[in-house]
Amino acid sequence: MDKTAAPHSSKSMPESLETDSAHTTAKRRWTDEDEPEADSDTDSDEISIKSTKSLEAQNIEYVLENGRRYCNDTYFMPNDEAEQTRLNITHQICLILFDGKLTDVPLAKIDPRILDIGTGTGDWPIGMSAEYPGATIIATDIGVFDNGLGSTVELPNVSFQLDDARDEWTYHEPFDLIHLRGLAGAFSDWPALYKQAFRHLAPGGYIEIIDADPAADSVSFLDSGDSYFSIFASAMRSAAEAAGHPRDLCHLSPSVLTAAGFVDVRVKERVIPIGLWPTDAREKTLGKMGLIALLEGVEAYSLRPLTATGSWTAQGVRDLCEKVKTEFLTASQMTCVVKTVTARKPFVRSMARKNDLLQKLMKLDDEMTT
Ligand SMILES: C[S@@+](CC[C@H](N)C(=O)[O-])C[C@H]1O[C@@H](n2cnc3c(N)ncnc32)[C@H](O)[C@@H]1O
Repeated sequence: MDKTAAPHSSKSMPESLETDSAHTTAKRRWTDEDEPEADSDTDSDEISIKSTKSLEAQNIEYVLENGRRYCNDTYFMPNDEAEQTRLNITHQICLILFDGKLTDVPLAKIDPRILDIGTGTGDWPIGMSAEYPGATIIATDIGVFDNGLGSTVELPNVSFQLDDARDEWTYHEPFDLIHLRGLAGAFSDWPALYKQAFRHLAPGGYIEIIDADPAADSVSFLDSGDSYFSIFASAMRSAAEAAGHPRDLCHLSPSVLTAAGFVDVRVKERVIPIGLWPTDAREKTLGKMGLIALLEGVEAYSLRPLTATGSWTAQGVRDLCEKVKTEFLTASQMTCVVKTVTARKPFVRSMARKNDLLQKLMKLDDEMTT
């Protein structure tokens, strides 16, 4: 197996928004001096924060494996140019699917604090930055992508930071929105992640999780039950289970969020028609873009997990991928279901009435859009 560590060509990153100096060059570590006064509005289990992690992109090492580039030895998706392009396309698909919106969350403040976990190419925080110029956005990832972490695009209100969401979070102020898109398979302990998110949200703050995974029944087509695709999906599930990072969508179950303390859990499913079969103009566009993203994703989703089992060679996986791709190109009525879950941290006493009003407004909004 061709498995070597390659140094990343270093690029400058925009400075951390967690710093208070507008022109210091890169991320400096937070010190106790940066610690803000406790916020009297927040819950009793308020976060006690010592520092944020914000690192230079220099010295980042990648792992080259079977012709793909990965950010470390464990996360299953690559982060090379092909994957970056796939993420860019997926972001555009989401924009169409969400009717131009970047979030389902009703952000009431003009200066919300937003955390995007596993930001990838950073398309989402970059879009949010334009839509909420008053926002403070922290976008984190374990890997460096050309447009996200390590980007040459400097936005005044977005800070890209290298951080592993499985570690203890060290943000010093609570967020109004914590966003996770496309993180299925990244965590073995979603309840622990939700607990941290809950602690780091302001009262009334939202978490939003968006996922679809071909290994977890998100993709289907006529006769997909008896296909190379079903072999492929089941092999990925077994491999992920063996690796301790289940490839299912159980983390989107409302009960997992309510167990962490969240309320007002809402689940929304949107369907992407995949392929050339749709007739409606919007669906046609989605269909073509979805097909491109899925064809590109087949190898990205499977190569590392399947070869890691020891039962598959890279060539064996690639041969299966080709068969799956051929099936996708000829499949009838192929669709991919994208699931979004939003949930809220409860307000503290004095905010309860404001919350009631917000709920009524959201209900009214739902009624008007359906
Ligand atoms: C499939 S990509 C989705 C990227 C982006 N959220 C989007 O929707 O375009 C998943 C991202 O999560 C990142 N990731 C995986 N495990 C992570 C972790 N433990 N902490 C932070 N980010 C992680 C990966 O490096 C990758 O960039």
